[in-house]
Amino acid sequence: MKFFIDTANLAEIREAYDMGILDGVTTNPSLMAKEGISGESNVRAHYKAICDIVDDKVSAEVISTDFDGMIKEGKELAKIDDKIVVKIPMIKDGIKAIKYFHSEGIRTNCTLVFSSGQAILAAKAGATYLSPFIGRLDDISYDGLELISQIVHIYGNYGFETEVLAASIRHTMHLIKCAEIGADVVTCPLKVITGLLKHPLTDSGLAQFLADHAKAASK
Ligand code: E4P
Repeated sequence: MKFFIDTANLAEIREAYDMGILDGVTTNPSLMAKEGISGESNVRAHYKAICDIVDDKVSAEVISTDFDGMIKEGKELAKIDDKIVVKIPMIKDGIKAIKYFHSEGIRTNCTLVFSSGQAILAAKAGATYLSPFIGRLDDISYDGLELISQIVHIYGNYGFETEVLAASIRHTMHLIKCAEIGADVVTCPLKVITGLLKHPLTDSGLAQFLADHAKAASK
């Protein structure tokens, strides 16, 4: 299972990378805006800064929604660094763009996926990654994890090479359930990754070990 961090914050990306468990980064226009990044050259420079931190797989999302615009923008994003994965929305022209990038050997991440039907289309087009949004489905009383399960099952039926990248992850149980289901990748905020570390018995056990060690040393 691959771990991507879902942020455009350089300090958080560095922190996750320094743990030695990070496989990639996902961003979206909202996450870039949250970091105050705007304007074409600033956006590109920020993507380059992210690529300089991690080893590979940095999703950079197109803003265009028409085929020609997505192709032009995606090619420019891909030129920033070999680590870039072009993120394309799940719309009709997006599917055409994914097919085009597949034929050109440019990796894609199909985003804003909320149904199994959409997942089938993206796989048929040759998406490298598929991003179904768990939390946003949960928010409207649909079962986001059930969708991950359905897609993993369907892709398994046909041997689709598209990797299921579970997105919109809000808490550690989302991540753990994705691991049980067999999602290929999870992308989540830093607090979800570091949340996996926490257990009260680890904390109390460590405190006890250190106290016993100090007591023995003082004798
Ligand atoms: C990542 O690729 C998605 O854009 C992101 O996970 C969406 O998360 P959100 O629903 O918390 O905004």
